[in-house]
Amino acid sequence: MNATLETIWKRKSIRKYKPDPIPEEHLHLILEAARRAPTGSNRQNWCMVVVSEAGMRQKTAEACDSQMWMADAAIILCLVTLPGEGKVNGTIVLDHAILAATSLGYGTCWIGAYDEAKVKEVLGIPADHGIICLTPLGVPAEQPAARPRKTPAQLFMLDQFGSPLDYSL
Ligand SMILES: Cc1cc2nc3c(=O)[nH]c(=O)nc-3n(C[C@H](O)[C@H](O)[C@H](O)COP(=O)(O)O)c2cc1C
Repeated sequence: MNATLETIWKRKSIRKYKPDPIPEEHLHLILEAARRAPTGSNRQNWCMVVVSEAGMRQKTAEACDSQMWMADAAIILCLVTLPGEGKVNGTIVLDHAILAATSLGYGTCWIGAYDEAKVKEVLGIPADHGIICLTPLGVPAEQPAARPRKTPAQLFMLDQFGSPLDYSL
């Protein structure tokens, strides 16, 4: 298996973090992976708040349904969409960041449970911008087992809807 597939296989939601910092060169590689993500018509209609200060991380975690374990990670990333834009592009951007982080050994967890108004207030995001998702980004303090997935035949269809495509690896 190549490194890209290994990274995709390796990614899991991490909900326990060590307080260790992330070296700047690693953070910049992760952000650069996000910057290189494709967007429709290359609109690049997103921006990202990198939350590093401990008090800000606490407040951000509170705004995310009080998932306080998020604040233990060195950083929280918050993916923001520009006014009037949809969510597809930003989702791809955050996935690029998450996979880059995984490849460097860091833990992440998609966070979709948040109070949008509260997150905006904490991070100073203008009201006309949207939020896609957040993720903590830090050194994992757990190695959970892979969570189950549906079988290939439940997910894939060949040529016709309802005609299962199956395989085994
Ligand atoms: C859009 C989205 C929103 C999510 N929101 C949360 C969340 O708010 N809190 C949380 O603990 N996990 C959240 N998750 C993580 C999922 O629970 C997790 O990805 C799923 O159970 C599969 O586990 P895995 O990521 O380890 O493969 C979210 C995942 C996605 C894709």
